[in-house]
Amino acid sequence: REAGSTGPHIFLTGFMAAGKTTVGRVLAEHLGWTFIDLDRAIEERLGTSIPEIFARQGEEAFRRQETLSLGLLAQDQPAVVATGGGIVGRDENRLLMQRLGRVVFLDLPWEELLPRLQAQGGRPLATGVQGWDSVQRLYDARRPFYLQADLRIDCRGLSPLEVAMAIAKKL
Ligand code: S3P
Repeated sequence: REAGSTGPHIFLTGFMAAGKTTVGRVLAEHLGWTFIDLDRAIEERLGTSIPEIFARQGEEAFRRQETLSLGLLAQDQPAVVATGGGIVGRDENRLLMQRLGRVVFLDLPWEELLPRLQAQGGRPLATGVQGWDSVQRLYDARRPFYLQADLRIDCRGLSPLEVAMAIAKKL
Protein backbone atom coordinates (compact mmCIF):
# COMPACT_ATOMS: atom_id res chain seq x y z
CA ARG A 1 0.00 0.00 0.00
CA GLU A 2 1.16 3.49 -0.73
CA ALA A 3 2.05 5.77 2.13
CA GLY A 4 -0.68 8.25 2.94
CA SER A 5 -3.45 6.44 1.13
CA THR A 6 -6.50 5.35 3.10
CA GLY A 7 -8.33 2.11 2.74
CA PRO A 8 -7.82 -0.66 1.97
CA HIS A 9 -11.24 -0.99 0.49
CA ILE A 10 -13.01 -4.23 -0.28
CA PHE A 11 -14.17 -4.36 -3.90
CA LEU A 12 -16.98 -6.74 -4.78
CA THR A 13 -16.83 -7.76 -8.41
CA GLY A 14 -18.77 -10.22 -10.52
CA PHE A 15 -21.34 -10.38 -13.25
CA MET A 16 -24.65 -8.52 -13.21
CA ALA A 17 -27.09 -10.04 -10.71
CA ALA A 18 -24.37 -11.88 -8.75
CA GLY A 19 -25.52 -10.09 -5.59
CA LYS A 20 -22.72 -7.52 -5.20
CA THR A 21 -24.94 -4.79 -3.77
CA THR A 22 -26.90 -7.03 -1.39
CA VAL A 23 -23.77 -8.79 -0.12
CA GLY A 24 -21.94 -5.47 0.11
CA ARG A 25 -24.55 -3.94 2.39
CA VAL A 26 -24.50 -6.97 4.70
CA LEU A 27 -20.70 -7.12 4.79
CA ALA A 28 -20.34 -3.38 5.46
CA GLU A 29 -22.88 -3.61 8.27
CA HIS A 30 -21.00 -6.56 9.76
CA LEU A 31 -17.62 -4.78 9.62
CA GLY A 32 -19.00 -1.40 10.65
CA TRP A 33 -17.62 0.08 7.43
CA THR A 34 -19.18 2.45 4.93
CA PHE A 35 -20.93 0.87 1.96
CA ILE A 36 -20.49 2.43 -1.47
CA ASP A 37 -22.39 1.32 -4.55
CA LEU A 38 -20.34 2.63 -7.45
CA ASP A 39 -23.29 2.64 -9.87
CA ARG A 40 -25.37 4.73 -7.43
CA ALA A 41 -22.41 7.07 -6.84
CA ILE A 42 -22.20 7.71 -10.59
CA GLU A 43 -25.94 8.28 -10.85
CA GLU A 44 -25.82 10.74 -7.96
CA ARG A 45 -22.84 12.62 -9.35
CA LEU A 46 -24.40 12.97 -12.79
CA GLY A 47 -27.96 13.38 -11.53
CA THR A 48 -29.29 10.75 -13.91
CA SER A 49 -29.80 7.00 -14.22
CA ILE A 50 -27.46 4.44 -15.76
CA PRO A 51 -29.89 3.52 -18.56
CA GLU A 52 -30.08 7.26 -19.36
CA ILE A 53 -26.30 7.59 -19.41
CA PHE A 54 -26.01 4.63 -21.79
CA ALA A 55 -28.81 5.96 -24.00
CA ARG A 56 -27.70 9.58 -24.18
CA GLN A 57 -23.90 9.43 -23.85
CA GLY A 58 -23.07 5.85 -24.71
CA GLU A 59 -21.26 3.07 -22.90
CA GLU A 60 -17.81 4.67 -23.21
CA ALA A 61 -18.96 7.73 -21.27
CA PHE A 62 -20.23 5.44 -18.53
CA ARG A 63 -16.92 3.55 -18.47
CA ARG A 64 -15.04 6.82 -18.01
CA GLN A 65 -17.26 7.61 -15.05
CA GLU A 66 -16.50 4.23 -13.52
CA THR A 67 -12.74 4.84 -13.71
CA LEU A 68 -13.19 8.34 -12.30
CA SER A 69 -15.26 6.97 -9.41
CA LEU A 70 -12.63 4.37 -8.56
CA GLY A 71 -9.96 7.07 -8.50
CA LEU A 72 -12.01 9.18 -6.11
CA LEU A 73 -12.10 6.30 -3.62
CA ALA A 74 -8.42 6.92 -2.85
CA GLN A 75 -9.56 9.73 -0.57
CA ASP A 76 -12.16 7.72 1.32
CA GLN A 77 -12.04 5.78 4.56
CA PRO A 78 -12.11 1.98 4.19
CA ALA A 79 -15.34 1.02 2.48
CA VAL A 80 -17.05 -2.00 1.04
CA VAL A 81 -17.50 -1.10 -2.60
CA ALA A 82 -20.00 -2.84 -4.87
CA THR A 83 -18.82 -2.33 -8.44
CA GLY A 84 -20.70 -2.61 -11.74
CA GLY A 85 -20.31 -5.90 -13.58
CA GLY A 86 -18.25 -4.30 -16.34
CA ILE A 87 -15.63 -2.67 -14.11
CA VAL A 88 -13.04 -5.39 -14.82
CA GLY A 89 -13.09 -4.61 -18.55
CA ARG A 90 -10.50 -1.86 -18.32
CA ASP A 91 -6.91 -2.72 -17.30
CA GLU A 92 -6.78 0.63 -15.53
CA ASN A 93 -9.74 -0.27 -13.32
CA ARG A 94 -8.26 -3.58 -12.27
CA LEU A 95 -4.98 -1.86 -11.40
CA LEU A 96 -6.79 0.84 -9.43
CA MET A 97 -8.74 -1.73 -7.43
CA GLN A 98 -5.60 -3.74 -6.70
CA ARG A 99 -3.88 -0.60 -5.48
CA LEU A 100 -6.76 0.60 -3.33
CA GLY A 101 -7.76 -2.64 -1.67
CA ARG A 102 -8.72 -6.27 -1.95
CA VAL A 103 -10.73 -7.54 -4.88
CA VAL A 104 -13.39 -10.19 -4.31
CA PHE A 105 -15.12 -12.12 -7.10
CA LEU A 106 -18.67 -13.28 -6.39
CA ASP A 107 -18.77 -16.31 -8.64
CA LEU A 108 -22.02 -17.81 -9.91
CA PRO A 109 -22.51 -19.93 -13.02
CA TRP A 110 -24.36 -18.47 -15.99
CA GLU A 111 -27.27 -20.88 -15.40
CA GLU A 112 -27.97 -19.22 -12.06
CA LEU A 113 -27.46 -15.67 -13.26
CA LEU A 114 -29.76 -15.91 -16.28
CA PRO A 115 -33.07 -16.35 -14.40
CA ARG A 116 -32.13 -13.50 -12.06
CA LEU A 117 -31.36 -11.25 -14.99
CA GLN A 118 -34.60 -12.20 -16.68
CA ALA A 119 -36.54 -11.39 -13.51
CA GLN A 120 -34.78 -8.14 -12.59
CA GLY A 121 -34.56 -5.84 -15.61
CA GLY A 122 -33.27 -2.26 -15.52
CA ARG A 123 -29.86 -2.98 -17.02
CA PRO A 124 -28.93 -1.57 -20.43
CA LEU A 125 -26.60 -4.48 -21.23
CA ALA A 126 -29.04 -7.20 -20.15
CA THR A 127 -32.50 -6.25 -21.35
CA GLY A 128 -33.12 -9.45 -23.26
CA VAL A 129 -33.65 -7.38 -26.41
CA GLN A 130 -30.12 -8.09 -27.60
CA GLY A 131 -30.64 -11.82 -26.96
CA TRP A 132 -29.44 -13.71 -23.90
CA ASP A 133 -26.78 -15.48 -25.99
CA SER A 134 -24.90 -12.23 -26.37
CA VAL A 135 -25.13 -11.57 -22.63
CA GLN A 136 -23.72 -15.03 -22.01
CA ARG A 137 -20.85 -14.23 -24.37
CA LEU A 138 -20.15 -11.14 -22.27
CA TYR A 139 -20.10 -13.36 -19.17
CA ASP A 140 -17.65 -15.77 -20.84
CA ALA A 141 -15.42 -12.94 -22.07
CA ARG A 142 -15.25 -11.29 -18.64
CA ARG A 143 -14.70 -14.41 -16.60
CA PRO A 144 -10.87 -14.44 -16.96
CA PHE A 145 -10.78 -10.88 -15.66
CA TYR A 146 -13.02 -11.65 -12.68
CA LEU A 147 -10.71 -14.55 -11.88
CA GLN A 148 -7.82 -12.12 -11.35
CA ALA A 149 -9.43 -11.16 -8.02
CA ASP A 150 -7.60 -11.72 -4.72
CA LEU A 151 -10.45 -13.86 -3.47
CA ARG A 152 -13.10 -15.91 -5.30
CA ILE A 153 -16.27 -16.92 -3.50
CA ASP A 154 -18.30 -19.76 -4.98
CA CYS A 155 -21.74 -18.33 -4.26
CA ARG A 156 -23.75 -21.38 -5.36
CA GLY A 157 -26.33 -22.24 -2.72
CA LEU A 158 -25.25 -19.45 -0.39
CA SER A 159 -27.49 -16.67 0.93
CA PRO A 160 -26.17 -13.08 0.79
CA LEU A 161 -25.43 -13.30 4.52
CA GLU A 162 -23.45 -16.51 4.03
CA VAL A 163 -21.46 -14.95 1.20
CA ALA A 164 -20.71 -11.90 3.36
CA MET A 165 -19.55 -14.09 6.24
CA ALA A 166 -17.37 -16.17 3.90
CA ILE A 167 -15.66 -12.97 2.75
CA ALA A 168 -15.24 -11.64 6.30
CA LYS A 169 -13.64 -14.89 7.37
CA LYS A 170 -11.12 -14.96 4.55
CA LEU A 171 -10.03 -11.33 4.45
C1 S3P B 1 -22.94 -3.32 -16.19
C2 S3P B 1 -23.41 -3.69 -14.95
C3 S3P B 1 -24.28 -2.82 -14.14
C4 S3P B 1 -24.03 -1.35 -14.48
C5 S3P B 1 -24.18 -1.13 -15.95
C6 S3P B 1 -23.20 -1.98 -16.78
C7 S3P B 1 -22.10 -4.28 -16.95
O1 S3P B 1 -24.01 -3.05 -12.77
O2 S3P B 1 -22.77 -0.94 -14.05
O3 S3P B 1 -25.50 -1.42 -16.30
O4 S3P B 1 -21.45 -3.88 -17.93
O5 S3P B 1 -22.05 -5.48 -16.56
P1 S3P B 1 -24.46 -4.40 -11.99
O6 S3P B 1 -23.39 -5.42 -12.18
O7 S3P B 1 -24.59 -3.96 -10.57
O8 S3P B 1 -25.76 -4.82 -12.58
